[in-house]
Amino acid sequence: MSETNLKDMSQLVSLAKRRGFIFQSSEIYGGLSSCWDYGPYGIELKNNLKQKWWKAMTFRSDVVGVDASIFMHPTVWKASGHVDGFNDPMVDCKNCKSRFREDKIDTTAPCTNCGAKDSFTEPRDFNLMFSTQMGPVEDSSSKVYLRPETAQGIFTNFLNVQTTMRKKLPFGIAQIGKAFRNEITPGNFIFRTREFEQMEMQYFIKPGTQVDSMEEWKEIRWNWHLSNGLRPENLRWKDHGDDLAHYADAAFDIEYKFAHGWDEMEGIHSRTDFDLKQHQEHSGKNLMYTDAQDNNKKYLPYVMETSVGCDRCLLAIMSDAFRIENEGDKENERVVMKFHPSLAPIKVAVLPLVKKLDEPATKLFKDLQMEFKAEYDLAGSIGKRYRRQDEIGTPFCVTFDFDSLKIMP
Ligand code: GAP
Repeated sequence: MSETNLKDMSQLVSLAKRRGFIFQSSEIYGGLSSCWDYGPYGIELKNNLKQKWWKAMTFRSDVVGVDASIFMHPTVWKASGHVDGFNDPMVDCKNCKSRFREDKIDTTAPCTNCGAKDSFTEPRDFNLMFSTQMGPVEDSSSKVYLRPETAQGIFTNFLNVQTTMRKKLPFGIAQIGKAFRNEITPGNFIFRTREFEQMEMQYFIKPGTQVDSMEEWKEIRWNWHLSNGLRPENLRWKDHGDDLAHYADAAFDIEYKFAHGWDEMEGIHSRTDFDLKQHQEHSGKNLMYTDAQDNNKKYLPYVMETSVGCDRCLLAIMSDAFRIENEGDKENERVVMKFHPSLAPIKVAVLPLVKKLDEPATKLFKDLQMEFKAEYDLAGSIGKRYRRQDEIGTPFCVTFDFDSLKIMP
């Protein structure tokens, strides 16, 4: 039996639609560009991934969770630097009006859309935050933003959490939630979208300990991706070196070898005290930590951040799991999704050999369903039923035959 990996994103997009993982948003209206809906198997997979992350990050005594609101006080985004600095340089093709991120194309080459030469405008800054109005009156004072990252809901709750939970440094706050960015060039399926989910954790530490903390979290996060079944040869580190965001003094990405090439999946950022300092200044609230273990010294904690896009991580997991067995052999070609059992949307399928066994097989299925996400399939040949389960990555299939009756309680 031969086995080939994913070569082209279109293979995955097609399986995802055909088998109810991911659909184009608003498809019956022709779709909405770069917006995607998770179908029945997709949402099981996504929920399993989120639960696994939640467990890994918060089932430890030094990390607690929050679920902050998507809308926040507009000054949050002034303080964080997003109002003034969350921009991508954008160029337009004067001929076909296509818009590109300047840093992603060669502006001296012809337009990749229409082929026109020397057609690009000068780069202009384009703020990536979506804004809307809160309340019935539309004026500038009611302007709010859809959060472009979940992290700020953690920083603004630092004091609430630290005091109510009586946390001592180092400790972390974790959150999973939607984020929105008006990306100039979304694409590659669910890799870069305008609405996505982030799984972020801010670990508050004593200033000066960031190098050790970075090493610790790099190892934890790398191992977590391996625990999801990602093949190590498809993962690598990228050190940002001196090319850093305004808030960071060091940053590393975990990159995955996507069908479109190596690209960022998770960022681990040493954010210094930038965010707490900014929020202290803009809110006027004292966010200092009193260190009882160090002569009651007062200081703003430093922050180690781990930030992974749930959808992007899911794309890596689906890409890694995708295999074609016996490619090109019409009779025997099939897609198999080799998900790690902890993530598989369906854990077990019960497949009675013949209709006559429906009743006892259903009983077994109902018992299994109390504990596991299970499926029952009576339609078609047993081979076809196995193939259906292979395509959605079910790790266990139970063929119920006449011998099974002998071991039924
Ligand atoms: N709080 C830090 C932060 O948001 P980021 O590098 O801009 O840092 C973190 O984003 C992660 O969020 C990325 O590594 C990626 O997995 C995910 N992400 C960012 N923009 C995204 C988009 N437009 N679509 C899908 N995922 C995105």
